[in-house]
This record gives sequence, structure tokens and C-alpha cells, in this order.
Amino acid sequence: MPVEFISATFANASTEIAPIPGAPVDPDFLVRYARALDDAGFDYTLCPYNSNAFDPFSIAATIAAVTKRVKPIIALRPNTMYPTVAAKQLATIDQLSRGRVVVHFIAGGSDQEQAREGDFLDKHERYARLEEYIKILRRAWSCSEPFDWDGKYYQFKNFSNGVLPVNGTIPVSVGGSSDEAYRIGGALADIFGLWGEPLKETKEQIDRIYAAADAAGRPANDRPRIWVTFRPIIAETEELAWAKAHRTLDLLNKNKFNPFAGKAPANGTTPQNVGSQRLLDIAKRGDVHDRALWFPTVTSTNARGASTALVGSPQTIIDSILDYVELGCELISIRGYDNFNDAVDYGRYVIPGVHARLAGAGPDN
Ligand SMILES: Cc1cc2nc3c(=O)[nH]c(=O)nc-3n(C[C@H](O)[C@H](O)[C@H](O)COP(=O)(O)O)c2cc1C
Repeated sequence: MPVEFISATFANASTEIAPIPGAPVDPDFLVRYARALDDAGFDYTLCPYNSNAFDPFSIAATIAAVTKRVKPIIALRPNTMYPTVAAKQLATIDQLSRGRVVVHFIAGGSDQEQAREGDFLDKHERYARLEEYIKILRRAWSCSEPFDWDGKYYQFKNFSNGVLPVNGTIPVSVGGSSDEAYRIGGALADIFGLWGEPLKETKEQIDRIYAAADAAGRPANDRPRIWVTFRPIIAETEELAWAKAHRTLDLLNKNKFNPFAGKAPANGTTPQNVGSQRLLDIAKRGDVHDRALWFPTVTSTNARGASTALVGSPQTIIDSILDYVELGCELISIRGYDNFNDAVDYGRYVIPGVHARLAGAGPDN
């Protein structure tokens, strides 16, 4: 099974462990970071969306212009853009990047966050709108013949798309852990994104996604590819890695209420999205799960986005990733807490090691 690696994009040197309040886009940093991902052997980088953060489309276009390999994954909330506009914008960047664009759909995990940009639909409706949105984009990418749409959330007449994707379509990713995420992602997505849970829980989620794909009539060879996300904390030895993990945790705790350290302050209230709720529940059952999946980073940030760490030497991180590959995860997202340096380290010590093991080399090669 081919395994590919995903990173996340940062537009400046601010991190969760060393936040720079109010930092603007740093074009030099962004270009250096994007090229470092290319050199490290990453296949994709997520350009995330948040109501108070930089525009992922412009970030993706910049990445595409200065790299050769890495594919920008543009995070998109349907409430922020009319679907015909999104179809053209994504296809335009796809043409600029010679066919490297992926779109990651976010139904919206928090009513409060959605309201900041005028979206007052409840979560059930947000998922229903997402389903319609994906169908429109797929239709708009399929050919430039004019078509009408008369749906529940969108109606338009005689739209014809003159901007078609390079490879016939643009891969669609869906993320989430609620029943509706499984149903819609299982039925319509090429890629399904998960946060790093223990092996047992990850397997349960994969089974749910595959069951939804089966129920939608997709054949077994056309199921969504599974993407799973970790925040590896890596050092030369196990001991050094655990010391680094505790230093990282101290810094996360110190920055807990700093809005510049992440999307929203971790304030102890239960997040509305199921993915975060699941992580917080698992965190209550223990700090370390399986080989090296570490949860205090989840508790510290109130499960703010992908927050489970993998802690250890390169060998432990490689072995842990391979456990997930064995479960059927094909897309492995690894981003650290020291964004730039961690990406470089993963390129040296993790990505080549995973590829070598999959090509048949032993653990010490
Ligand atoms: C891999 C992955 C990446 C995500 N990226 C974003 C993002 O960039 N912005 C955002 O608001 N939510 C992001 N999310 C969050 C979910 O899409 C969001 O919580 C979802 O809309 C509702 O989640 P639920 O179905 O688990 O309740 C991401 C989720 C996953 C699994």
C-alpha cells in the first residue's frame, strides 16, 4: 500500500509553544517552510481554515509557486464561499500548480465559531449543506457544459465552468468523527481525515467509514483513503524524547489561555465537535496508549485540533506509524510543536525510515 505524508502549513514562525502575538504573514518564512517540506519528502500540506486566520487559498497558491512536489490541501468551510466560486478558485490553483490541489471540507464543529462568519445553521444542517456542496463541485469539475442546480441550500441557473481541473477532478477530503461525517465522507470523499486515536478506536472509525462507503454503493476498491494525524515529539533516544515531551507540555500549559497560541483558548468547556470529545474521553483513560501515543497534550489544549503526540526515538515513531499503516491508514500527517525544525527532523529520521520499512528493510536499516 502506498503511504504518503502530510504536514500543516504555517505562514510565520509563531508556534503553540512560542507564540508571536499578532504575527503577520512572513513571506520569507512561508517560502522557506514550503521548500523544506518539499525537500523532506512530504507529499501534502494542509492549509487550515479558521475564522481569524490567513486565507488558505492565497497560502496554497504561494506554496504551489515555490515548490515542485508538495500538494496543498485547502481547508474549506462551505459557509465561506458560494460553491461555483469555490469550484473555479480551486481549479484555478489546481491549474497554477499543475494538478496538485486537494480540498479538505469542514462542516464546522462549533456553533460559536460558525456564527463569527454569519453561519447559523445547526450541525445537522451544516452536514446536509456540505453534502450538496460536494455534489455541486464534482459536477462543476466534470465538464464545462452549462447546468442548473435546484437544491435545498443552493439554486442557480445555467452555470458553466470554464476552469477545469488538470487531472479531471480535484481530490475531496472530509474530516470529522460524528455519524454524519462518516456518512457523508464515506459516500462522497476520496480521503477521510481523522485525528490520532489509539489503534483500537482508529480501527473502529475506519470500519464505520468503510461501512458508510459500502452503504452508499461504493465498491471495495473505491473507498476513501484514510488520513490520520499525529504530533510526533522525537529525539535521539527514548529518554531524550520524553524529556522533550514534558518540556513541550510545560510550554503548552504556560500558553493555555494565549489566543495567539492556537485557534481558541483552551478554557475547559467541552468542545462541540465529536472528534475533540472523543480525544478528551480517551485522555481520561490514561496518558500513554499503545506504543507511544501521548494524551496530556490533548488535555492541555482541550483537544484543540489534532493534538495527540507520538513520543520517542525515530524507531519508536516509525514503528508506531507502521502500526497505523497496517490498520489501513495511507496518509500519515505528522506535524510537531516546533513547526519548522520538526518538519526537517521528520524528513531526516521518520519519512525515509517508514518508506524503507515498507520497501522491505528491517527495523535497523
Ligand atoms: C484532519 C483534520 C483536519 C481538520 N482541519 C480543520 C481546519 O483546518 N479548520 C477547522 O475549523 N476544522 C478542521 N477540522 C475539524 C473538523 O472538520 C470539524 O471539527 C468538523 O467540522 C466537525 O467535527 P465532528 O464531525 O467530529 O463533530 C479538521 C479535522 C480533521 C480530522
